[in-house]
Amino acid sequence: MADDRNPFNFGDLALEAGFADRERELAELTTHIRNGQNVVVFAPRRYGKSSLVWRAAQDLVARSEALVAQVDLMLTTTKEQLAAALAKAIHEEIATPLFRARERAVQVFSGLRIAPVLTVDPQTGGLGFSFRAGHQRADVDATLEGLFELPAQLAADRGKRVAIVFDEFQEVLSIDPHLPKLMRSIFQTQPDVAHVYLGSKRSMMHRLFNDANEPFWRSAAQMELGPIPPDEFATFLGERFGETNRRLPDAVAESALALTGGHPYATQELGYALWEETPRGRAANADTLERALDRVLHSENAHFSLVWERASAVQRLVLQALALEPTTALTAHEYRQRHDLPGTSSVARAVEALVDDELLRQLAPGHYVIAEPFLAQWLRARLR
Ligand SMILES: Nc1ncnc2c1ncn2[C@@H]1O[C@H](COP(=O)(O)OP(=O)(O)O)[C@@H](O)[C@H]1O
Ligand SMILES: [Mg+2]
Repeated sequence: MADDRNPFNFGDLALEAGFADRERELAELTTHIRNGQNVVVFAPRRYGKSSLVWRAAQDLVARSEALVAQVDLMLTTTKEQLAAALAKAIHEEIATPLFRARERAVQVFSGLRIAPVLTVDPQTGGLGFSFRAGHQRADVDATLEGLFELPAQLAADRGKRVAIVFDEFQEVLSIDPHLPKLMRSIFQTQPDVAHVYLGSKRSMMHRLFNDANEPFWRSAAQMELGPIPPDEFATFLGERFGETNRRLPDAVAESALALTGGHPYATQELGYALWEETPRGRAANADTLERALDRVLHSENAHFSLVWERASAVQRLVLQALALEPTTALTAHEYRQRHDLPGTSSVARAVEALVDDELLRQLAPGHYVIAEPFLAQWLRARLR
């Protein structure tokens, strides 16, 4: 029975009823896309960037306000793979809705320097695209240029609003450091196409868009996703429990959200475990919440062990200190003394690396918190 299945999910996109709040961000993002305005969405990983843009795309497509093609650069290691992913997305999300007839929708790629190899998935009948390796670099670049130009041409021909989403955009640099320049030179001639860039790895994304020497400097409106506000998330959690024959008292929801800070992935992960601990027809309580947290820490143990192994000695001391005693002045002399921390410059270096790995988050100068969900609880459990 559907109403007896765990309503929480962590790791996949948050869709439909699994998507909480984000109303303001959703309105902002859909407005930008509708206006053909470029936009960059910054957030640490697992904050819900991909889920948000999917929701926005779904809404826009359903209302016939825009066609939205998406590529995930985390899945494209080479330029050939990027070209293939772009071709597939343009084919499915732009050309097919515009032309309906399959032949016409495939013809849009006929002008490319390198012709894609087409395959038909025998199961779904869907078209697959690939570009063989081994072509001249200039030909691959020209093919990519052609693909970058296509959405704007199709949109103009048909009078349709079109958007392209580049998920995990920071990966563009590992595909080819020259790509940003190539992309930007083409995109800046397309005022009607909304280019949407999603990225984690804060420092790299910020540099791409906020450094005056970078091609994407000031090329897009900026949005930043934070945690989901506890009130909104509590309502969401309570509703999901209610729909599946369980109850979540406000006080328990509040304690759960105090543990996750409204981190989207972490909250779903804890909600999932809490639901498992709550029998049908019953209400969650402080005991089930404690067992749920144990469950989560247990299943994240391998991940945290790896984080710990990879951390340098100073990074470990910083994490331990912040887990045991949160502070707004990490480098203060007394705090460093209490927690065996070395001099300020070593601490600063360790902190920078931890922020880059998204293990820490800076709230204000000197004020850092452990951002990786449940890491603080895991550390405290081990240090006890
Ligand atoms: N709006 C939301 N409501 C509820 N849960 C969410 C929401 N956004 C994200 N999540 C949770 O976070 C997880 C990661 O979301 P995702 O969109 O993949 O993040 P990102 O793309 O930033 O890494 C999802 O699997 C889901 O559990
Ligand atoms: Mg994502």
